[in-house]
Amino acid sequence: MELTDKVVFISGSTRGIGAAIALEFAKSGSRLILNGRQDDLPKAFKEKLDLLGTEYHYLKGDIANEESVSELAAAAWQIYEKIDILINNAGITNDKLMMGMKTSDFDQVINVNLRGTFMLTQPIFKKMLKKRAGCIINLASIVGLHGNTGQANYAASKAGIIGLTKSIAQEGAHRGIRCNAIAPGMITSDMTEKLSERVKEQILSRIPLNRLGQPKEVAKTAKFLAENDYLTGQTIVVDGGMTI
Ligand code: NAI
Repeated sequence: MELTDKVVFISGSTRGIGAAIALEFAKSGSRLILNGRQDDLPKAFKEKLDLLGTEYHYLKGDIANEESVSELAAAAWQIYEKIDILINNAGITNDKLMMGMKTSDFDQVINVNLRGTFMLTQPIFKKMLKKRAGCIINLASIVGLHGNTGQANYAASKAGIIGLTKSIAQEGAHRGIRCNAIAPGMITSDMTEKLSERVKEQILSRIPLNRLGQPKEVAKTAKFLAENDYLTGQTIVVDGGMTI
């Protein structure tokens, strides 16, 4: 797919990987619909988009809330009467060891990461089916492939996203819709900033390329998945070799 003028809707794109994906597609001349839970995009991020001359819209909306997500999907489609590429990036963590994890901790992460992704995708997928074209990219994680101590809720949500991705890929293929996932390893962002230095050092010792990844390295993978028309149902691991 040629990305110039394509409409790209990215959930959770106020910062981190979502913002980096936005900038990557902006550089390719795509038009952006951005989303987050706050009232507006950070000023510095807007300045970067303005410098690139990008056409963008910001929609506030919580993907975990059924009413809000349905309004969000409708409003996003209405802007250009189409969405060429949907990138399900919004996600949270709430880490606890299995033995201390409350059902509410489990539900909270599943509700945003998995149920939210489903609820945002379904109405847009229906419209893509009618248009017989579309590309969906879901942010999973290596933790969804391999599990992780203290992340039973997050791992389950991301493993679920991989299953969702493969199912959407099978249901959409005959109508020109592709769906793939990205499974990042440890990427520098607010999400990984929360980790203690000790945990970060432990993680670093398990990464053959000996550094955390950059959000833009995930963003480049999203661009590659959007551009390559013969890829569907795949989960691309971007982890510096951590899970070799
Ligand atoms: P982040 O915490 O920096 O950004 C998350 C974004 O999602 C923010 O814009 C936040 O406002 C938004 N968001 C959260 N809950 C939302 C909701 N209910 N409705 C709408 N927006 C919501 O996280 P980061 O690191 O940029 O992660 C982005 C995605 O990549 C997530 O799905 C995450 O699970 C995944 N990922 C990140 C990794 C990392 O090392 N940073 C590793 C593997 C996957």
